[in-house]
Amino acid sequence: MVNIGNLWQYLAAQAPLSSVLSGDQFNATTNNMASSITTYTLPQLPYAYDALEPYISAQIMELHHSKHHQAYVTNLNKALESHIASVVGNDIPGQIALQQAIKFNGGGHINHSLFWQNLAPASSADAKPEAAKELAAAIEKTWGSFDDFKKAFSTALLGIQGSGWGWLVKDGISGLRIVTTKDQDPVVGGEVPVFGVDMWEHAYYLQYLNGKAAYVDNIWNVINWKTAEDRFLGTCDDAFALLKASL
Ligand SMILES: [Fe+2]
Repeated sequence: MVNIGNLWQYLAAQAPLSSVLSGDQFNATTNNMASSITTYTLPQLPYAYDALEPYISAQIMELHHSKHHQAYVTNLNKALESHIASVVGNDIPGQIALQQAIKFNGGGHINHSLFWQNLAPASSADAKPEAAKELAAAIEKTWGSFDDFKKAFSTALLGIQGSGWGWLVKDGISGLRIVTTKDQDPVVGGEVPVFGVDMWEHAYYLQYLNGKAAYVDNIWNVINWKTAEDRFLGTCDDAFALLKASL
């Protein structure tokens, strides 16, 4: 059986970079590592804060984007910076301790970046399901009708306990599926997030209070079906480029 105490001693005894490199080599190595790390920034919204009214208020959008999303970005950058220091210092326990912060804040950054792009003003052509002909056909094939899909998706959203997200995803095996993710867990593992809905209270409470069902009813007015179609067809550069590049 592995003795955890001995394991920590073993890990701590591993020579850190600073002890095997000269001062100049160590500085050059750490500088190279630091410069290779992306510093993430808050992406601009593709519309004004009041563009989704009356379904999502300008107050919610401004706070949600400029405060909540910004906090995920700020905390992700801090966590990644600390992680680099832990890697350079050969601090395995330190690296492990940072995993949750990277997952939570990185997921928050990814999820919100996808969310802003898969919303659109209700008056725009992109907010009409007709903008997603191929996706609509696949939805009807999977759920029988568009209305049945909306009911199933809404039920999934309202079934989320606590904070989380609902997603329509495409995978290469079973086609379209509705999934929910807890907290800020992102959709990963090869599934394509076609569109997502933020079910954290900060996404609706200032306007809808405890009327979560009304928020879910109204979100359908501002789904960007053009973006959803592009993600479904693999012709959209936002969903995946943003996971790899600076946003
Ligand atoms: Fe959110």
